[in-house]
Parts: sequence; C-alpha cells; structure tokens
Amino acid sequence: MVKICCIGAGYVGGPTMAVIALKCPSVEVAVVDISAPRINAWNSDQLPIYEPGLDEVVKQCRGKNLFFSVDVEKHVSEADIVFVSVNTPTKTQGLGAGKAADLTYWESAARMIADVSKSDKIVVEKSTVPVKTAEAIEKILTHNSKGINFQILSNPEFLAEGTAINDLYNPDRVLIGGRETPEGQKAIKALKDVYAHWVPEERIICTNLWSAELSKLAANAFLAQRISSVNAMSALCEATGADVTQVSHAVGKDTRIGPKFLNASVGFGGSCFQKDILNLVYICECNGLPEVAHYWKQVIKVNDYQKTRFVNRVVSSMFNTVSGKKVAILGFAFKKDTGDTRETPAIDVCKGLLGDKAKLSIYDPQVTEEQIQKDLSMKKFDWDHPTHLQPTSPTAIKSLQVVWDAYEATKDAHAICIMTEWDEFKSLDYQRIYDNMQKPAFLFDGRNIVDVEKLRGIGFIVYSIGKPLDQWLKDMPAVA
Ligand code: NAD
Ligand code: UGA
Repeated sequence: MVKICCIGAGYVGGPTMAVIALKCPSVEVAVVDISAPRINAWNSDQLPIYEPGLDEVVKQCRGKNLFFSVDVEKHVSEADIVFVSVNTPTKTQGLGAGKAADLTYWESAARMIADVSKSDKIVVEKSTVPVKTAEAIEKILTHNSKGINFQILSNPEFLAEGTAINDLYNPDRVLIGGRETPEGQKAIKALKDVYAHWVPEERIICTNLWSAELSKLAANAFLAQRISSVNAMSALCEATGADVTQVSHAVGKDTRIGPKFLNASVGFGGSCFQKDILNLVYICECNGLPEVAHYWKQVIKVNDYQKTRFVNRVVSSMFNTVSGKKVAILGFAFKKDTGDTRETPAIDVCKGLLGDKAKLSIYDPQVTEEQIQKDLSMKKFDWDHPTHLQPTSPTAIKSLQVVWDAYEATKDAHAICIMTEWDEFKSLDYQRIYDNMQKPAFLFDGRNIVDVEKLRGIGFIVYSIGKPLDQWLKDMPAVA
C-alpha cells in the first residue's frame, strides 16, 4: 500500500488529500499540521473550512484511508510520498518585504523531513512557490540526507475555493515537474500513477521542475490580469455609457479570448492572486527584468484602483460624506461559497468607509463576527504606507455590527454595498428592504448581481460596476 503524507491541512492540503483518498482506496493518506485546533476540526463534524461537497468526501474516507493528525514526524517518516502544502505568504520584513514569498514554513518542513526520514522519499511541492524553490529544497534535503534518496517534484494546485471538490474531480490538467534524470522520471511516474486513478492520462502534463513552478505563477497572473483588464474597462464603460456586461459578452465570444473570468467586480481577492503576482514581480526584478516586473505590477495597481474607485463612488454619491450613516455590507468573503476572507476586497472597502466615519452593519452567511473584527483591525500594510493612509482605528471598529440576516443588516440603512456574489443576495425581497431603509436609498453593487432596472423601479439609486449611471450618479461624479 502506497503511503502519502501531506504537511499542511489547509484549504489545499485538506480537500486535495480527501479526494486522493476517495479516488485511490489502495493509498493511505495522512494529513498533518502543527495546528492542533485545525486537526481537531478536521476530525470533528465541523470541518475547519467551508467548501461545498467536502463534508461528504471526508465522511466517506476518514478513519479508513484518510487520517488527520498532529503527529507530523511519525507520518512523514512512514510515507513514500510527502506533499508539502504549507502556506507561502508574502514576506512582510527584511529582504524582498512586500513582494517575495516567505518560505519560512516551507524550509522548516523540509528540514523536518530530512531529520525524521529513514527511507527514500518523493517530496512534492504542492504549495505555490517561487521558481527554483525545488533547487533550494533539494539542497536542504541532500545536505542532511544520511544517505537517503529524495526526489523533488513540483505539482502545483489549480483548484479554486468554492468549487474545490469539482475542480479536483475534473481538473483541466494536473501538472507534474521533475528532474530529467532516470530517478526523476521514475518519481514523476509514481505520482502520475496516483492521479491516473481518476484523471485521464492526456490531462496529466509532465515537465521539468522550473516549468511546473513557473506555470503556476503564470496561470494565476494571467487569471488576475483578465479581471484587471475587465475592471479597467468597467471604469471606461461608466464614463462613456457602455455596459461592461455587454462588452465582456461580446469580447468573450471570440474563441481566442473565451468567456471566463471576464466578470467586472469591486476587485479580486483571495489568498493567492496578489501574493503570487507580487512574487512574480520580485522574481522578474531579481532576474534583471524591470520592464516585465512593471508590466505585472499594473495588474495589482488596477485592482487597488478598482477598490478605491468603489469607495469614492459610495461617498461622493451620498453627498460626499457617509459620516454617521448606516451602510449595510452584504457579503464579506472574497467570493461566494467560501468562508475565506483572505485579501477580500470587502476589507479595503469597509476600511475606506470606516475612515469616512460610516456605521457598518455586515452580513455574510459564512463569516463569523470574530473573523470580521480581526480582519478590520489588522493593519496589514502598515509597513508599506504612511499611517495617515490607514483609516482604521480602534474606535472605528466600534462603528460596526455583524448580523446574521440581510434584512437586519439593511434595516434603517442609508445604503447597501454588495461585496460578495452570494446567490441569496439575488433573490432578496428588495421592496421590503427599500421600505425599511432611509431615503434616498442607495445600493452599490460591487458584483453586478442585482437587476438594476427593477431596483430603480422600486426607488433605489443604484450603482452597478461598469453599468450606465443613473442621473443621480452622473450629477455627483466620484472624485478620483
Ligand atoms: P493554509 O494557510 O490554509 O494552510 C497551510 C497550513 O500549513 C496551515 O494549517 C499551517 O498550520 C500549516 N503549516 C505551516 N507550516 C507547517 C509545518 N512546518 N508543519 C506542519 N504544518 C504546517 O494555506 P492554503 O490556502 O492551503 O495554501 C497552501 C499553499 O497552496 C500556498 O502556497 C498557496 O499559495 C497554495 N494554493 C492555495 C490555493 C487556495 O485556494 N487556497 C489554491 C492553489 C494553491
Ligand atoms: C484562484 C485560481 O482561480 C485557482 O486556479 C488557483 O489555484 C487559486 O487562485 C490559488 O492559487 O490560490 P481562488 O482565488 O480560490 O482561485 O478563486 P477565483 O475564482 O479565482 O477568484 C479570485 C477572485 O477573483 C475572487 O475575489 C473573485 O470574486 C474574483 N473574480 C473572479 C472576479 O472579480 N471576476 C471574475 O470574472 C472571476
């Protein structure tokens, strides 16, 4: 029986290993983590992450060929294949701060593997890492190997949150990079055999290590670039009377461009797009390619511009101040069908509104009050910005309440901001909501999910990203 151990029981490690266990009954899978609360949650009925379909997969395999444990060393030493799926955040201090990937967690995992191993192992990079990381990992492992043979593979993950289980069942491709030596090719085959239990062979792409590592960063950069491209167009649409949904549809019909990832929004969020592009920018700079670095940096800049533009639009439409006004925030997660709030655009929008002294009432079906308070208190980019650009202060945080119902959040509100495209926000009783709001009642749709004409018919003043403006908004232009 092949034994797999995955270090890191997070959004990637948990679902990926659960699906491997489900699809490969002959493989024993252990998922280990240094965080005891996380492992306890994986062993309970309340899994640590919300992901449609995940509960069923875990329930089917847990205790049979899928185990969650804090005994990292035992499971690593027993495994034939060790996946490393630890977090690789952006460095916040020292060389490359604000851009480079922080590989502290990766390095400590690699040193631990070298320490506890007693037999040959395949070590798989599952985390997203800078190109050439495998070389560094190889050095750590071989310098501490005690004669043990380690083969390093790069097998980046392409799942998206909210659709992780389906993405894992039907991946567009599985990418495996390895050394072009006989031992490297043998390791590639061993990992390929695992995926071949359910992934058609033509979808398993095998490359050299550096291509696999770089392809992951490139894929995320290309995806984020599409969103920034359409978001840049959304600003032009508002200025000209074009409708961004119509433009996206027309552009996406070109089979060379394709229809996906062309939804204009208040900005992309999530734990990876920003960090991976910053990392790419840093790698370009380190390789003496400032023009290439500058090109990709713009994707982030447009994303920041889009969030700022949204806040400015809200404030300018409401007579240039939201001070003391109740603003309902519908949705806080970075996208629907997840409770994940990492880098969610809602954080920047809420901070912007709190900076203008709004009173926020926030509702998200999957995010707790504790998480929201934490996200809004964190001065994440303090190190990068002068303090006067960080509007959130402890007193501002007191100006928010978190409620468990959209009707409660919008009651007596002056305005609504839709931050996440949860399906339930499409079918709310907007007449009832309008009746219970202050007038004029504003609705700012950061996800283009409401029926603008219907809501204008009810009486709302509606702003929807990249859509033709109504007269009120035209009369109160947002200051850039
Ligand atoms: P996460 O923060 O949810 O999980 C990482 C886990 O690793 C944490 O539970 C942490 O406690 C654990 N960990 C850290 N160091 C450890 C150590 N030395 N030993 C044992 N456990 C350790 O992160 P994630 O979202 O699962 O992302 C993991 C990697 O996968 C990142 O590189 C990310 O870029 C990449 N990725 C993420 C997604 C996604 O949708 N979240 C998709 C594709 C790729
Ligand atoms: C993204 C990629 O889609 C995955 O392939 C990748 O594995 C993952 O990053 C990663 O490396 O972490 P994820 O961030 O989970 O997945 O979710 P996406 O569906 O890509 O959405 C990212 C953000 O872009 C969300 O805030 C979403 O609302 C926004 N988005 C997406 C738009 O604004 N418009 C779109 O058309 C699509």
